[in-house]
Amino acid sequence: SLKAVVLVGGAQKGTRFRPLSLKVPKPLFPIAGRPLVEHHIDALCQLRTLSSIILLGFYPAEQFTEFLNDVNARYPVPITYLQETESLGTAGGLLKFESIILAGNPSAVFVLNADICGDLPVADMVEALANHSTAQCLILTTEATRDQSRNFGNVVVDEKGSGRVLHYVDKPTTFVSTSISCGIYLLKPSIWKFLRDQVFNGTIPALWFELDIFPSLATTDGLYALHTTRWWSQTKTAGAALYANRHYLRLYREHHPERLTFSGATIEGDVYVDPTAEVHPSAKIGPNVSIGARAKIGAGVRVRESIILPDCVLEEHSCVLHSVIGWRSVVGTWARVEGTPISPNPNMPFAKLDNKPLFNIDGRLNPSLTILGSDVHVSNEQIILNSVVLPYKDLSASYQNQIIL
Ligand code: GDD
Ligand code: GTP
Repeated sequence: SLKAVVLVGGAQKGTRFRPLSLKVPKPLFPIAGRPLVEHHIDALCQLRTLSSIILLGFYPAEQFTEFLNDVNARYPVPITYLQETESLGTAGGLLKFESIILAGNPSAVFVLNADICGDLPVADMVEALANHSTAQCLILTTEATRDQSRNFGNVVVDEKGSGRVLHYVDKPTTFVSTSISCGIYLLKPSIWKFLRDQVFNGTIPALWFELDIFPSLATTDGLYALHTTRWWSQTKTAGAALYANRHYLRLYREHHPERLTFSGATIEGDVYVDPTAEVHPSAKIGPNVSIGARAKIGAGVRVRESIILPDCVLEEHSCVLHSVIGWRSVVGTWARVEGTPISPNPNMPFAKLDNKPLFNIDGRLNPSLTILGSDVHVSNEQIILNSVVLPYKDLSASYQNQIIL
């Protein structure tokens, strides 16, 4: 059988995702109506021989309890959380919990970074690993631009097309390869021996596949790559969440059209509306909008390219474009909340999203989508443009290009 481990990290991580990661751990942020890691669970559960999924991280376990109860009721394999007492890197936790992860003798174990998204070819990876008898690990790779490649793990593959990895360097300072690691691996259990060899005086140190394992594994015949050209992206920033939302809605259209059947208002393109949301029939929604549980969308409201989180209220004739509206926020009547979309450079083949910082080098805010943290109130008729608003703010004036603390 197969098992899977999703590396969810911990609270020091996901800072670029603020203010949206203040309320829930980033892996639980809803995209297209489902927590980010549920999309990974969804993809992994296509594998018939999968026997369990483990979320591994250093968040307090309570933060995952509700989510685990929910997904365990809906997916066919047990899904559990294992907590590292401190950050052990991408491989240290796998060694610490070796006996649990390898219990039942799985034939192979998936390891996925939680902060990626995409149309993940997990079944193809199982097939590719089986084709390489000496492989101890298979890495999913994709193409990046020359410039962007240095922000990723770089993979140099044998020219003969065998898929064998000759060289692996994580985030190199000079150009190595445009073939980059997607942060998804399929491991043979024999690789745990390699992990154990890294331990010196009995205590498990922080260990990283990217630094401690792959570079040396590439010098043997043990590391292979499978290249994908399907959609793949990181989800480091809040802006990336909106980009991922658009793509996951598109994948629903292809694989789960029943999730996009809402018709109680004028709908354009792909729109997900939670069954418990109330949408006025005169509202116009879409394209690429997700509306969370119990949200209320009033008469004459216009929403496009946005994520509306649970329990929000968009009052009559308000307009929300290219924005994320946090839990329980209220947008008053005739108010307008608008951001600037971000997407990969369309003129550069294989370009990925840039993880732009909030501020550019001259201290000005980079154009961004508008994000309202949780419990924000925008008064009637105000206009909020390209701004990031922290939780619990009451906005009774208009703002643009600001961070409202
Ligand atoms: N359990 C656990 N413990 N998880 C961790 C820890 C840890 O100590 N540290 C990081 N993670 C998780 C993060 O939550 C994330 O899902 C993943 O490991 C990798 O996070 P980063 O360390 O921030 O690396 P990165 O995202 O910049 O780069 C990685 O992913 C790229 C693809 O997105 C590398 O693997 C690159 O090689 C790769 O190209
Ligand atoms: P496209 O923009 O190309 O899709 O054309 P369209 O005719 O479908 O226009 P759309 O409905 O997107 O509205 C255009 C602009 O009008 C939006 O960007 C909003 O600023 C504004 N708008 C449209 N409908 C409403 C509404 O019901 N309420 C409010 N407040 N603004 C609206």
